[in-house]
Amino acid sequence: MPSVYIKTYGCQMNERDSEAVAAQLVAKGYTLARGEATADVILLNTCSVRDLAEQKALRKMENVAAEVRRHRPGVVLGFIGCMAQSRGQELIDRLPDVDLVVGTQKFHRTADYLDDILAGRRAKIVDVAEEQGSEATIRQHLLNGNAQKAATAFVSIMQGCNQYCTFCIVPYTRGPERSRTIPDIVAECRELAERGVKEITLLGQIVTSYGRRRSPHPAFPPAAPQPLAQSATNATAPQGGESKGARLAGSSAGAHDDKSPFVQLLEAVHQIEGLERIRFTSPHPKGYGDDLIEAYGRLPKLVESAHLPVQSGSDRVLKLMHRGYTRQRYLGIIEKLRHCQPRMGISTDIIVGFPGETEDDFQQTMSLTREVEFDQVYLFKYSPRRDTPAAEMAGQVPQPVKEERNQRLLLLVNEIGRRKYEQLVGQQMQILVEGPSRKNPARMMGRTRSNKIVVFDGSERHRGQLLEVRITRAGSFTLYGDPTVINLD
Ligand code: 5AD
Repeated sequence: MPSVYIKTYGCQMNERDSEAVAAQLVAKGYTLARGEATADVILLNTCSVRDLAEQKALRKMENVAAEVRRHRPGVVLGFIGCMAQSRGQELIDRLPDVDLVVGTQKFHRTADYLDDILAGRRAKIVDVAEEQGSEATIRQHLLNGNAQKAATAFVSIMQGCNQYCTFCIVPYTRGPERSRTIPDIVAECRELAERGVKEITLLGQIVTSYGRRRSPHPAFPPAAPQPLAQSATNATAPQGGESKGARLAGSSAGAHDDKSPFVQLLEAVHQIEGLERIRFTSPHPKGYGDDLIEAYGRLPKLVESAHLPVQSGSDRVLKLMHRGYTRQRYLGIIEKLRHCQPRMGISTDIIVGFPGETEDDFQQTMSLTREVEFDQVYLFKYSPRRDTPAAEMAGQVPQPVKEERNQRLLLLVNEIGRRKYEQLVGQQMQILVEGPSRKNPARMMGRTRSNKIVVFDGSERHRGQLLEVRITRAGSFTLYGDPTVINLD
């Protein structure tokens, strides 16, 4: 059978999509190649969030195509994911060696399309159409194909985004919000737990919007049969898009009416036996209600970690970005979170150089960064995206100014990070061991509940274990530790 290599750019959603595509191919008998040099099929799963990510993938495909066409003309080349969705046929017009372009609602069709191309039934395939119910098709995992047991897994709970931040291309590449049902998600999580997964990260573009929009179609009914009385209740339930969305929660919804569907989902996943930790990414500050904050105090498996993208510290810029919250509201959420869980790890995304950002606006981002003392910040220089409102806004910031602001903020972020990580030296912390350290495979790595990486001297037998370690040293956004009790089984 042919072998396939998938290279992934961008976010965790993309990682998850690649895994689902790989699992689908393995189920059909394909093998996974270690690298592109030995693969019969090379797929690039692309990111469109910034121009840089698109350029990287385009350049990579150019290089791969040049090599493949010279030495291995039978190799199939494809683009999948966000850039495939936004550029479609244009990608083949530009790079005629490309055989396949699969958009974000068609990942589950990839295996069939490859079969068609490899069998010579079709030459080129571009499929970037919308598909009802596609949010429920990203469900296969690679666990079976893995020699090593995975301790952690991603589970996609929804697709798309309705927020339309003015800088962001995602609503156009991923489509409108569509949520899977709670029973469907719980079934997937339960199966993962049964196969030894200890930690699940629930994924979506904006997970706090989970289930708030009624699905436009009842294509995926809950696994448990719905009592008739429930249907009657549904018929009279409020029909507005912002209704509490209890419909998605299935028959237990009545008891939870005051909680958002996302918190209802967390509660349902929390009940799964064998599962030790629950994470999610990304929430939106706008949707971070008290019910979610309170869940941290109530659900012990929900780890003390939040990735809460702020984007800017200036109210004026936040408004131009269409973020839907103010600096004060954001700081209020952070305060409540830390009140509920003092050890809360908080990370964020920040964009510098958004159109119209003045030095004063930037200083407000600096001061917010100082005030919150983020554990980790992902910094982005604003990149104009096709068809987004911000790309047309007046006051585009010159590249050197973006670079310079990025540098200044980076220095601050690193200084805060160093201080925060140093403070943990000497403490005892729980980690879940994920596998060998990426930088030094002779050592093992795990993650604290607050999402900090800890490297320690261990071995394969530690994989999947929850270990208590004592932190001995802090490096750059990495901790080093010693297990406090050596577990010998
Ligand atoms: N330019 C720069 N950064 C962007 N992001 C999204 N769109 C853009 C853009 N046009 C960043 C945001 C988001 C993260 C995933 O990518 O910070 O949270």
